[in-house]
Amino acid sequence: ERPIIIAPSILSADFANLGADVRRVEEAGADYLHIDVMDGTFVPNLTIGSCVVESLRKVSNLVFDVHLMVEHPETYIDSFARAGADNITFHVEATRHPHRLIQQIKAAGCRAGVALNPGTSIYTLEELIDDLDMVLLMTVNPGFGGQKFIENMVGKIHALYHTVMENELNVDIAVDGGINAETSESVRSAGANVLVAGSAVYGAPDLAAVIRALRG
Ligand code: DX5
Ligand code: ZN
Repeated sequence: ERPIIIAPSILSADFANLGADVRRVEEAGADYLHIDVMDGTFVPNLTIGSCVVESLRKVSNLVFDVHLMVEHPETYIDSFARAGADNITFHVEATRHPHRLIQQIKAAGCRAGVALNPGTSIYTLEELIDDLDMVLLMTVNPGFGGQKFIENMVGKIHALYHTVMENELNVDIAVDGGINAETSESVRSAGANVLVAGSAVYGAPDLAAVIRALRG
């Protein structure tokens, strides 16, 4: 059994009090800080850039897990790495050169992840997975927090877990979107070991309690 990693998403934090909201999840027992970067083109929303990551790096020791929902991800790898990202995940749908991007992320000193939209098959990972540190399966269509978990994704998580185990790969399986105390149970039993949660964490009165509940 792999240890469960909890990654609160700051998309649901109070952007006017971002440093304090980051420290709150760190004190509540989070493992990673999930940072959603949106460009208004790959997804219909705009969020934050590397300058925000650079500022947050000064107030937090959490693992910074940067989720790039952007076109031309190659343009941003080095600036996020310099700003203090530990993990950088890009969408396979956003590039014609996923293999080169993985090399670029590792050369920048970060762990490399690939994200898949709900409609993208895990077979797109076949030639990449040996070089990956993490696969992020979207369990909602990316762009916004607070959406409903897509139940069909449980089978996809399980299929990826099977591949990872069968080939003895050292790849984390992350899930992102609609994860709360209820849905966390099914994604954990399907084989996910990194749980991203935005609204479920920041919407709760007791952050430590919800993080414990997500961990199971
Ligand atoms: C969605 C983002 C998620 C989002 C999850 O596009 O990638 O990380 O913050 O939010 P919840 O947990 O509220 O679905
Ligand atoms: Zn995300």
